[in-house]
Amino acid sequence: MKKMTSAEVREAFLEFFEEMNHKRVASSSLVPGNDPTLLFTNAGMVQFKDVFLGLDKRDYSRATTSQKCMRVSGKHNDLENVGPSPRHHTFFEMLGNFSFGDYFKHDAIRFAYDLLTRAYGIPDEDLLFTVHTTDDDAYAIWTEEIGVPAERVYRMGDKTNFWQMADVGPCGPTSEIHYDWGAEACTCGIGAEPHFHLDNGCARYLEIWNLVFMQFQQFPDGHREPLPKPGVDTGMGLERIVSVVQQKLANYDTDLFMPIIRRVQQLTGDTDAQREANFVPYRVIADHMRAATFMIADGVRPGATGRDYVCRMIIRRAVRFGTKLGFEQPFLAKVADAVIETMGEAYPEIVERQEAIERTITNEEIRFRRAMDRALSELETMLGALEPGGTLPGDLAFRLHAEKGLPLEITRDIAQEQGYSVDEEGFRTAQAHHEAVSRGVGGGAFGAIDMGEAYSAALNTLRDQGLIDGRVKQDQYGPLSLETRLVAILRDGELVESASVGDHVELVLDVTPFYVEAGGQVSDTGVIEGQDWTVDVEDVRQPVGGLIVHSGEVVEGRPQAGETCTATVDAGRRLDITRNHTATHLLHAVLRSVLGTHVQQRGSLVAPDRLRFDFSHDQPISDDELDTIQRLINDAILANYPVSAEWKDLDTARGEGAMALFGEKYGDRVRTINIFTDPKSRARFSYELCGGNHVTETGVIGPFVITAEGSVAQGIRRIEALTGHGAEAYIRRSIGLLRDTAGLLGATPDAVPDRVHSLQTDLKESQQEIARLHRRLAKVEFDTLYQQATEIGGVAVLVARVNPTTSDTLREMTDWFRDRAQSGVIVLGTIADTGKPQLIAAATKDLGKRVHAGNIIREAAKVVGGGGGGRPDLAQAGGKDPEKLDDALHHAWTLVEQALS
Ligand code: ALA
Repeated sequence: MKKMTSAEVREAFLEFFEEMNHKRVASSSLVPGNDPTLLFTNAGMVQFKDVFLGLDKRDYSRATTSQKCMRVSGKHNDLENVGPSPRHHTFFEMLGNFSFGDYFKHDAIRFAYDLLTRAYGIPDEDLLFTVHTTDDDAYAIWTEEIGVPAERVYRMGDKTNFWQMADVGPCGPTSEIHYDWGAEACTCGIGAEPHFHLDNGCARYLEIWNLVFMQFQQFPDGHREPLPKPGVDTGMGLERIVSVVQQKLANYDTDLFMPIIRRVQQLTGDTDAQREANFVPYRVIADHMRAATFMIADGVRPGATGRDYVCRMIIRRAVRFGTKLGFEQPFLAKVADAVIETMGEAYPEIVERQEAIERTITNEEIRFRRAMDRALSELETMLGALEPGGTLPGDLAFRLHAEKGLPLEITRDIAQEQGYSVDEEGFRTAQAHHEAVSRGVGGGAFGAIDMGEAYSAALNTLRDQGLIDGRVKQDQYGPLSLETRLVAILRDGELVESASVGDHVELVLDVTPFYVEAGGQVSDTGVIEGQDWTVDVEDVRQPVGGLIVHSGEVVEGRPQAGETCTATVDAGRRLDITRNHTATHLLHAVLRSVLGTHVQQRGSLVAPDRLRFDFSHDQPISDDELDTIQRLINDAILANYPVSAEWKDLDTARGEGAMALFGEKYGDRVRTINIFTDPKSRARFSYELCGGNHVTETGVIGPFVITAEGSVAQGIRRIEALTGHGAEAYIRRSIGLLRDTAGLLGATPDAVPDRVHSLQTDLKESQQEIARLHRRLAKVEFDTLYQQATEIGGVAVLVARVNPTTSDTLREMTDWFRDRAQSGVIVLGTIADTGKPQLIAAATKDLGKRVHAGNIIREAAKVVGGGGGGRPDLAQAGGKDPEKLDDALHHAWTLVEQALS
């Protein structure tokens, strides 16, 4: 097996198929566009569904992707397995290759086999294959063309070897590839023919890859018709293949999850042993924060119905599992931060939307915590009234859901933990009844997927009724609080007259003081208050041109459309945003003066807690340059230059040298932001076209610190920085770290680098000394061993078990042996520090054809459940079963004896 990180495993897959002429296509959103049959993207083929159905054409007939997927509802739902199961997730990545009327079974099988055994180096004998009972072609390809022994290819029925995306859509027979963790991993106790384990959840065989031979389209009435272009759709869970490559029985122990789990551990302060004893909440939290992070990045927000409900339920469930670890304050945003650190490189959208993700999670967490204790104690009372092992009536579970915000899934978790069950059918009946009463119509938004259309329709209605004159008015440069009118309330894209506490709504105002995300600057948050109601505004956006919606939850009272209200922006947060925005302009100007005028802005993020600036520049920036950049910006801040906005004609601004964004469209009148070094002579430090919010004097920005610099793409670099409070906290933390480090070293802060350097030198010398001693010890051990060598027909033979050692030392021992024995064969076995057996064999050259070390090792390794081989004079192998090491050596002895006699 090759040693690979998860990033390398993902990349090797995509590269392999690129080499096989597949087009690398980016993952599509978790929210499938225009597909009312699906709540979330649940497989790689979803974005290609219409291509399979012949309704859409692409300019390629082979594709490969790493696709973001969720399985929390409908046909493929893994929610309840998350936590207890080491291999199920709500959110996961699916690696896939696709053929649209191009290759079929033959190539699909060949590609899969080559990738697994060559690119990942998985031993062939650790794999097992299934095909559909009726699929003689696939069976023959595996057994005859690939040459897999027939005892490792199984014919199975529809349950295992037929795949469909949903109740309707493309489908076909499959061939699955399973990885064998070895007999000791068996959890079902059957121990007979492998295929008995395949379908019963036994941990011995892990399904890693599903090759679907797309042949039919299924219709709502259940009948199937052949597809116009049969093809191939495959899916391999990244988390699973990484567990195999990294040899971790639980996906959660791989480098995809450990950084996230460690973050939780850091926050609890648990020891490793405590963490392992409590693994279920750790896993659920890690899984759910991955899901929440990706859902929110793709535009889903916690809410009452459909996808929004899933987002809410996932976050709340994580909060509840957090209480099991003792979390009493919001902590999930810090876990999401670890998710973003771990996966941001492969999926830049989560880095892009970090601020919104963390804010949304924290807000939902706070909201749930307010009501959670009461909800849980009410549930305890309800459960206490049941017979042991009884069933909680559905209308009670629904009451907890509707009045206390306790998702059914959490009620079910808690009931199950205490040996009860929940009448889910009854829950749904109560829910349907409630919806019919409160809306006057059935349904709800579960299937109302095309929200864009709903917003356009709402905007047209408001225009027709004369409530909006063309578009919602914006006053984002004026006072942060203003009196206005609540023009409309939207719920799930539909206009409603009023809303009540706990409802997640979107408010439309006559005029808004809130800034709407644009030019990198994030949206404001704040509150909207009427006479006796309050809505917490978490986000503001423009879903269709002309319509601005403020989304948030009603926290008090009953807002009614048409009432007057006061809209107030969170002033502290806005001020932090303006600090970062003006600092971004300073950074842009300084970069051009230090690095050259080829520097052009290529993207930016202006959030309350940080700023990020991408720009064209095709070489690394030296530490000296970074120092100069940071110093010049702080100088400009300390000089307290005035900042002002001026409106003028585009041509005038351009003529005066104002910087505009490359590729951006501007109107005839433009807003410019000027940072003057001397307002009288109008000498400027920076001059840009910009629609954002800024400080009035640069001194307000406070300290400016660069926290990261690097490359994001060919010729594009990125700088991340902090200002104001964030910078101050960063400086304080850095000084604290330095002080603590100095304390540990017993040195002054200034002496830290020298002390670390000398420690490193000492350490290196000690390690070299240890290596020398190890070698000496091995030599002594070898000298004793050599005494045990026997002679068979003039050839020295040594077969022995040695103390645990490295494979380098093992190899060296065979060299010593060959140096000493003129003519000889040596076979050594040991248990490596991984606990796995290791074997090596070597023969002196003169033995030529008589003894083949590679053949001896291959046979001996089988005894310890492993594989390997090598040259006639030197061969090595690993195995799985340490107990059998002596048997393997014994077998090797017999083989050598046979070969020499
Ligand atoms: N679409 C197939 C699956 O999800 C590959 O298993």
